[in-house]
Amino acid sequence: MGMKIIGLLGSPLVKGNTAKLLDQAFRGETDAGCEVENIVVPFLDFSPCMEIMYCKEHTTCRLKDDMIPIYEKVREVDSIIVATPVMTMGIPGKFKGFMDRFQVFFMAKFVRKQPLVDPVKKKHRRGLYFVISGMNLPNVFDGSKRTIQSFFQINDCKYWDQRANPRYGYDHGYYSAAGTA
Ligand SMILES: Cc1cc2nc3c(=O)[nH]c(=O)nc-3n(C[C@H](O)[C@H](O)[C@H](O)COP(=O)(O)O)c2cc1C
Repeated sequence: MGMKIIGLLGSPLVKGNTAKLLDQAFRGETDAGCEVENIVVPFLDFSPCMEIMYCKEHTTCRLKDDMIPIYEKVREVDSIIVATPVMTMGIPGKFKGFMDRFQVFFMAKFVRKQPLVDPVKKKHRRGLYFVISGMNLPNVFDGSKRTIQSFFQINDCKYWDQRANPRYGYDHGYYSAAGTA
């Protein structure tokens, strides 16, 4: 069987711009014999990290919600593709909340020094990031990229590459002001 890849979609629009990019990537992977799974993060039901710190001593989270099976999936996959739009010059809120819940992986790796990802798997795990914005501003992808790089590091996926495309669609004052502030 081929490699297992998880796609994490950060847009609620399953036929939107971000989803189209992810679909293209899935097509390439399926052609290459990979097994792909798409997780639409905005549709998951989970709480933000409540800083209970249960994960400081446990390999999971005490909050029993949709994140619990996700941890197991992320441990097992060979690579991860994240695809998000830019929102408010960064990561969409729900997707940020999703990544914060990976404190479970952070504690295991950096505090207990017992990473949840198998060291053999870690060697080939890669993270690829697709990001799209409405505005064509110089630093429009900086915030999102920084956060995703950190997410991949916590999950033992080597940051492989990114594809960042502005759509030029939001050419009005608000986002221009946000970009130049
Ligand atoms: C709530 C919200 C906030 C946004 N904030 C920004 C922004 O700060 N900068 C920007 O360039 N585009 C911004 N956009 C535009 C989106 O990045 C753009 O429309 C993108 O194509 C949406 O992708 P989707 O269709 O896959 O959801 C925002 C869109 C929404 C809905």
